[in-house]
Amino acid sequence: MWDPGKYLAFADHRSRPFHELVARVGATAPRRVVDLGCGPGNLTASLAQRWPSAVVEALDSSPEMVSAARARGVDARVGDVASWEPEPDTDVVVTNAVLQWVPGHEDLLRQWVRALPSGAWLAMQVPGNFSGPSHELVRSLVDASWPALRGLLRPSPVLDPVGYAEVLDGCAVDAWETTYLQRLEGEDAVLEWITGTALRPIRAALDDGEWAAFRGRLAPLLREAYPRRADGTTWFPFRRVFAVARVP
Ligand SMILES: C[S@@+](CC[C@H](N)C(=O)[O-])C[C@H]1O[C@@H](n2cnc3c(N)ncnc32)[C@H](O)[C@@H]1O
Repeated sequence: MWDPGKYLAFADHRSRPFHELVARVGATAPRRVVDLGCGPGNLTASLAQRWPSAVVEALDSSPEMVSAARARGVDARVGDVASWEPEPDTDVVVTNAVLQWVPGHEDLLRQWVRALPSGAWLAMQVPGNFSGPSHELVRSLVDASWPALRGLLRPSPVLDPVGYAEVLDGCAVDAWETTYLQRLEGEDAVLEWITGTALRPIRAALDDGEWAAFRGRLAPLLREAYPRRADGTTWFPFRRVFAVARVP
């Protein structure tokens, strides 16, 4: 289950890639703008501000996220990006930090490009830190002490920028990656960060006692890999992969 509160706790760090992604979309007066996997809707609202005359469509598979988005005035609905199909007037599709959860999303991207009208823009961003220490430590802890959970940990579910440029071949493609050096505040900040995202399947699989035990084992490993600095902050490098395609 997604927790909009936990997710929004890091809203600044999460919103910057979104804005850098959308800045590369050159649409001036799109008819319909779609936010696939809109989350709590705070970023969707910025799409409506940029293109006030567009119909803004938003969907997310999490009812909690959809409620949070609707409470902010975003006309979001519950839906799965894997079965989403563009309306004929869809001129912009944005999907930020979502496709890493969608197996086979390369095929979806190809389908969307085929179905979108000429001149439409498709903009996506996914985290690319699946081989970073935070993921490796979770993997080694699971291997050592919770082997039954191994199936929940996937190999990297995303491509690198060249991979997405290949998938979107035929479009005008702008693909890149950025490693953000995030400065997190608070105790066990990296653990808190990944609890809201990468650890969700593990949290869901464990009862409260086992989850507390898991966190108790993971916390010192993360503290060693990402030491808290004297001023109480923690550096957390985070790679993200972006692609913006214009349909021919
Ligand atoms: C990391 S959040 C990103 C939210 C928002 N796009 C943002 O940038 O803040 C990932 C979102 O993807 C949604 N999601 C995951 N798989 C999905 C799917 N198959 N279909 C629709 N939404 C999905 C989750 O519910 C969650 O709200």
